[in-house]
Amino acid sequence: MGDLPGKLTWKPGTVLHPLPVVLVGCGRIGTDANLITLAWTGIVCSEPPLLSISVRPSRHSHALILKHQVFTVNLPAATQATQVDWCGVKSGRDVDKFGHTGLTPLAGPQTGAPLVAECPVGLECRVVDSRSLGSHDLFIAEIVAVYADAALVDPDTQAFALERSAPLCYAHGNYYELGGYLGFFGFSVQKKPGKKAPGPPRRR
Ligand SMILES: Cc1cc2nc3c(=O)[nH]c(=O)nc-3n(C[C@H](O)[C@H](O)[C@H](O)COP(=O)(O)O)c2cc1C
Repeated sequence: MGDLPGKLTWKPGTVLHPLPVVLVGCGRIGTDANLITLAWTGIVCSEPPLLSISVRPSRHSHALILKHQVFTVNLPAATQATQVDWCGVKSGRDVDKFGHTGLTPLAGPQTGAPLVAECPVGLECRVVDSRSLGSHDLFIAEIVAVYADAALVDPDTQAFALERSAPLCYAHGNYYELGGYLGFFGFSVQKKPGKKAPGPPRRR
């Protein structure tokens, strides 16, 4: 295999970006509640709604997820980058991450796993499958409940306006905010361009 014109050839690696970076809540409030920062996560099925997380077996959280078979995925805002990064460099073996960061644990009504009250969006998840991939173990989990701050609902349309949460993004070791609005799903094939031309969603 040769090189491609105008392209550099990099060694194979995890070059996929941007990614959401999430705070996964595991364990139980009052005994072993913990938070782990993860970037290796994604939606893997629509019906049933499934997501995946990949966790190294050496993480304290790995044992907690194996034990309880449930966890939460909390989507932080860009303003929470410091807490998110901190939870990704400290271990729950040594520190109480909720206590240290001041983040508030809320017991998920469906699973008992700890949600993060301050994160604008939180998902409760139940593990349905897992397997070892190499460095990381893959957990596939069903999303059994979704919670979002009331402030994310557009007061005019009552539509769920996720972009209002200003999510934290991750690319190759660095954190970013979401950029500007470009259009809605399918705008490239809309019948009467100009009539409903893509524009930024209303912000307040
Ligand atoms: C931005 C970021 C993304 C991370 N993504 C992952 C990941 O996808 N999988 C993983 O096992 N560890 C990941 N980590 C590392 C863990 O969050 C870190 O090792 C953490 O201290 C483990 O906590 P625990 O021992 O309390 O479980 C990430 C860390 C950061 C800062």
